[in-house]
Amino acid sequence: MFEKHIPVLLKEAINGLNIKQNGIYVDMTLGRAGHFFEILTHLNNTGLAIGIDQDEEAINDSLNFLKNNSKYNNYKIVKDNFSNIKEIVQSLNIRKIDGFIFDLGVSSPQFDETERGFSYRNNAVLDMRMNQDNTLTANYIVNNYSLNDLTKIFKEYGEEKYSYNIAKNIVKERSKKRIETTLELVEIIKNSLPKKELEKKGHPAKQVFQALRIEVNDELNVLKKALTDSLDLLKIGGRICAITFQSLEDKIVKDIFNSKAKIIRSRRNLFDEKEPDFKLVNTKVIVPNEKELEKNPRSKSAKLRIIERIK
Ligand SMILES: C[S@@+](CC[C@H](N)C(=O)[O-])C[C@H]1O[C@@H](n2cnc3c(N)ncnc32)[C@H](O)[C@@H]1O
Repeated sequence: MFEKHIPVLLKEAINGLNIKQNGIYVDMTLGRAGHFFEILTHLNNTGLAIGIDQDEEAINDSLNFLKNNSKYNNYKIVKDNFSNIKEIVQSLNIRKIDGFIFDLGVSSPQFDETERGFSYRNNAVLDMRMNQDNTLTANYIVNNYSLNDLTKIFKEYGEEKYSYNIAKNIVKERSKKRIETTLELVEIIKNSLPKKELEKKGHPAKQVFQALRIEVNDELNVLKKALTDSLDLLKIGGRICAITFQSLEDKIVKDIFNSKAKIIRSRRNLFDEKEPDFKLVNTKVIVPNEKELEKNPRSKSAKLRIIERIK
């Protein structure tokens, strides 16, 4: 299993958490328990690790792995959306947390399992749900959203320059026949781009697939809520490590962390200052080193930011 998913920025994120042996740590994106397992190795038997994932397969694989390959039992695994973190913590009768880790995005197994429909390289039904109990799929969006809404999500969530062209061609093609598969969509995208774009490095469907994934899983809104709630739940000295893989997510982490770590000035009296409750642990973003990039090319766009509660 660990051959399938190599944890990204593992050493940096674990160091960043500054783990106390008897602390309570939450891995908000359990995946295949890569970071989670490393957290467990830093705890003694009075510490606790909680792992959350909304993907049934991630939960089952991690539970099997932990049962068969580790001596640890001081952990809890929860299948839920991390945006419900306050309810999850409350249901476990816990009030405050020593550290959270977010390792966002799609896991390698999700990406590699063709039938999940995340990959623009393999043919599959258009799905992209991280939680298979949800009803909204990429298929629904592509076949039902209006021209305006498709253009808007490709532009906002995919930062795609040719959003309108692509949306227009989707609407045209679906009026002849429903668009069912990833490769049908890739073909429409390719036919919507000028030749010079197709000659550029990188897959031409990458941006649109990113946009659909964000819309299907409401990724940006749940991230904002989960970060804000996790900051509320942190103990003094507790930290959040957040690893992102694309600029929209990184901006959310950066903006929320910066706003929490800055001096608060009263609007009426500029000399009335309040020291912030948090400090940034790294002002410069942490990225993978050469060795990691060579070993795991998928770590290429990873960025780690860390914040600590100081009062
Ligand atoms: C990049 S993987 C994490 C890999 C993990 N750190 C490891 O080393 O094995 C991201 C995981 O987060 C999960 N995920 C993404 N958004 C989520 C959300 N809102 N709530 C719960 N899980 C989420 C995905 O299902 C996926 O399994």
